[in-house]
Amino acid sequence: MRITICVLLMMETLFLAGCDETKKAALKAEADSFRACQEMTLQGFRHVADTRDKRFEGKVQQATALCRGGQNAVQFMSAPWVDWTNYWATGDSTSLTTEIVPNTGHLGPNGRGLDGALLDLEYQRIELIKFNLFDNNGTYEDFVKGRAGVGGPALKSWPEMRLPKDHPNYQDAGGDGQQICKGELIRHRTLTGICNDIRNPLMGSTGQLFARNVELDTTFPDLGRTEWTRNRHGDRLSLLQPDPQVISRKLFTRKQSKPDACRAGYGLPGDSKDADCDYKKAPFFNVLAAFWIQFMTHDWFAHLEEGHNQPDYMKVGCTSQKVNNVETPLTAEDIQKLGCRPDDQMDKSYVADSSEPGKFSQGGKEYLKRAPKTFRNTVTGWWDASQLYGYDERSRQRVKRDPNDRAKMLLAPIGSRTGDAEKLGYLPVFEAADPILPQWSGQEAAAFPDNWTIGLSFYHNLFAREHNLFVDEFRKQAAKTPEDDSGLRNPATPDHIIRYKDVSADELFEAARLVVAAEIAKIHTTEWTPQLLYDEPLYVGMNANWSGLLGDAQGTTKAIADALREIVVNNYGKSEDVKKATQWYSVFASGPGIFGLGSKVYADDPVFALFNPNKKDVWDIRNPDHVNGGVNHFGSPFNFPEEFITVYRLHALVPDLIEYREAQSNPNVIQNKVPVVQTFQGRATDAMRSKGLANWALSMGRQRLGLLTLQNIPQFLQNLKIPRLEGKTQQIDIAALDLIRDRERGVPRFNEFRRQYGLKSLTSFDDFTDPHLPKDSAERRDQEELAKTLREVYGQHVCDISKVITDAQRGANSTFVNDCLEHPNGSTVDNVEDVDTVVGWLAESARPHGFAISETQFVVFILNASRRLFSDRFFTSSFRPEFYTTLGVNWVNNNGPGPKMMEQGMPNGHQQPVSPLKRVLLRTMPELSGELQHVVNAFDPWARDRGKYYSLEWKPRPGAESDEAFRKN
Ligand code: HEM
Repeated sequence: MRITICVLLMMETLFLAGCDETKKAALKAEADSFRACQEMTLQGFRHVADTRDKRFEGKVQQATALCRGGQNAVQFMSAPWVDWTNYWATGDSTSLTTEIVPNTGHLGPNGRGLDGALLDLEYQRIELIKFNLFDNNGTYEDFVKGRAGVGGPALKSWPEMRLPKDHPNYQDAGGDGQQICKGELIRHRTLTGICNDIRNPLMGSTGQLFARNVELDTTFPDLGRTEWTRNRHGDRLSLLQPDPQVISRKLFTRKQSKPDACRAGYGLPGDSKDADCDYKKAPFFNVLAAFWIQFMTHDWFAHLEEGHNQPDYMKVGCTSQKVNNVETPLTAEDIQKLGCRPDDQMDKSYVADSSEPGKFSQGGKEYLKRAPKTFRNTVTGWWDASQLYGYDERSRQRVKRDPNDRAKMLLAPIGSRTGDAEKLGYLPVFEAADPILPQWSGQEAAAFPDNWTIGLSFYHNLFAREHNLFVDEFRKQAAKTPEDDSGLRNPATPDHIIRYKDVSADELFEAARLVVAAEIAKIHTTEWTPQLLYDEPLYVGMNANWSGLLGDAQGTTKAIADALREIVVNNYGKSEDVKKATQWYSVFASGPGIFGLGSKVYADDPVFALFNPNKKDVWDIRNPDHVNGGVNHFGSPFNFPEEFITVYRLHALVPDLIEYREAQSNPNVIQNKVPVVQTFQGRATDAMRSKGLANWALSMGRQRLGLLTLQNIPQFLQNLKIPRLEGKTQQIDIAALDLIRDRERGVPRFNEFRRQYGLKSLTSFDDFTDPHLPKDSAERRDQEELAKTLREVYGQHVCDISKVITDAQRGANSTFVNDCLEHPNGSTVDNVEDVDTVVGWLAESARPHGFAISETQFVVFILNASRRLFSDRFFTSSFRPEFYTTLGVNWVNNNGPGPKMMEQGMPNGHQQPVSPLKRVLLRTMPELSGELQHVVNAFDPWARDRGKYYSLEWKPRPGAESDEAFRKN
């Protein structure tokens, strides 16, 4: 450090004496910035907040901003958005320091920027774990009070997570006594998700209640349960107020410049390529990514049961709007102009419990035991590929296995197309006897068949093929070395070696499921997310979540990674000290990574093990502490919170038309424009079968998806025909429904939502305008127009400074935020507190570089994306050959059979393996190998030139210059 300072001072003196002005200015700026680093260092690390109103909020001191990002970072500090996005090296190549300034590793500007960003993100994660876990299943009181001398956040098991008496596995799990799952219950992922955590059998299983991430008394703001909520919203909120359909039509509708060529998303006859629907596009994210996330959500959560809600209907708005700030009924003319439908009806949400929640007190404060209403997750909360394999008996009946080899999924070649991919086949269509709704008939058989389109058909077929390819490879190995140890063990007979030839079809089916689920989790964590958040801090951060900051290290680095992993589990994971069990665990897990935590146990002291090349792994399936030892729930049983579902309402991602291409002819040519709406349900299956998986992969791989922003919802989703619905129209506006469902489930409105997650709240609609934009730019003018529309829709009120609206955040003068939001008492302020959360995050235009989502959505992911890895035994201590087979463990680690394959070159400066989804695509569709040769991340549009360091430019790679998609933006 001292040397670098001297060098800088020397250079500063030299250059100030003899250099040109630009160089002088750059060096002076760096010298100032470096001095600020010293000041920052003297200030020391900030403390993790003791109370939620003292949270980090992603905002740093001036010296810190200057150190990590120079004046550029300082100038945006007053904006509500997090600071790290203005640090050096966190954007594209323009965010890198100039060559004039010496770039000395971690001490140089780029290193300081990146390290600073990672540190900020870790602080956010620690505080999220500390302040944002609220279980609804009855354990929250223990979380606050602790139990038997152990602090709540350090608790590891809960009576509420025991199997109830009427559960069919009650006795197997221990009955009335201590419940610890064993034997068959722990061998693989169970159908309903029980016994993932062997000491908390019920956790994450089908039918458990969704959790919350926000203080329970901030939920259901329209009920006005607290003075703060009443002060915040007055009497302005109800289920249908502000009117959801009006909001949808004014703020969500994707505008069309050629309505006749789009026809509200229905395109032109014969799927003519002359069809044309405008949509705002993300240049660095493709349509495969859009359907990937829908495919994921079907694994993680569902509020509906078998595709429907309560058998009780409700009206859904299109009745009034604000005119000059006064709520006014819509006239027939207004309705026609807006295009909304007062006669639409929808079935109400299922509610698990709406009785008055109990209360308890701690430290003079009163708490609710659960949210005023609770809702069930009707699928397993685990990342267990339950959309493919099932989550209860009924959905399992929809999963077809190959009668000739029960280890496999049933797939059959269709039609006369040739090619290796075609031999792998397609999923069968539902039969009349299958347990399905009438509207699902004609679709491919799948455990989760709802909202089926070409995108879901694609992924279900893809992973069914992948499942079978794993089985084939296993069988090949079994034929070669039948007597060898497969790695698999039966916990009931742990000493018995299961040879390859002895593995039963059922055992192999379940091992393949484990492998496919882990592969999916790996694709999501290390491929989809780094492309969704396309910048360097997130690339490093997401890979750290999986394999650690040390990466997939080899040799000495690998030894360090292994040792760190053990230090984390032994010293922190088992700790009853709250701080060690939560905060430090999270930080240290970034060293070795979450995946595989606790899957190795060494006899040596962990620090000694670091240096001992002969250390022996003593992990033992007979020891429940080894089987389960890697998980950490941070004191709150794992399930998704309602707020997580809110930030996954990503309907704007979907384009109206898919630009269809053919792999065997010229891929640069768009052959047809296929309306997504024409691929619903059984028509998806027809489209898949008639055109084939590889052509759909190519088409969706090359096309950009829709930006998550206001006025970008496809009109066909606003006019979706759902024949099962009662009422005149049998239509529903999905975007309006997104708002209604969040209101039904009591999600706080945008500003309080941000405060609850430790982000700064906004003071007016003008705050939505991106401060980075030049004053006179067209983009800025558009955003200012949108701020006006938000004002028109949500209105304004005269504020009262005496009304405190939250205890989660303090304003500029250190008092709790009040109704005037930093404006003078009695002034007219925007009703920014009333903004629906989905509207708010879509309106956020200031985003970190390469972020396809907003920072508000992102903060929800920081917490929940790591938790679903931390909590899952099969991703931590049970990621072992005893469960996955040796082939399975290697398959997940190496992204397929055989040794790891490395990508050519150094994309964005990293040596990296060929990505997991690219390997799946290459295996399941070998005919795409030419096209995929140029692809580094399967979710980056395939023909895009990735350019230099995290470029977002939309330009063709060599060979794709004639691709029509590059002709206009
Ligand atoms: C063309 C494609 C799509 C169609 C037809 C569709 C349709 C629907 C429908 C009808 C619902 C309403 C359920 C209800 O509350 O009654 C829904 C909910 C939802 N959709 Fe979509 N959707 C599509 C694409 C997507 C995509 C790409 C995502 C991205 C993640 C997504 C995420 C969600 C989420 C999170 C919910 C709430 C689910 C729940 O409450 O359990 N959808 N969708």
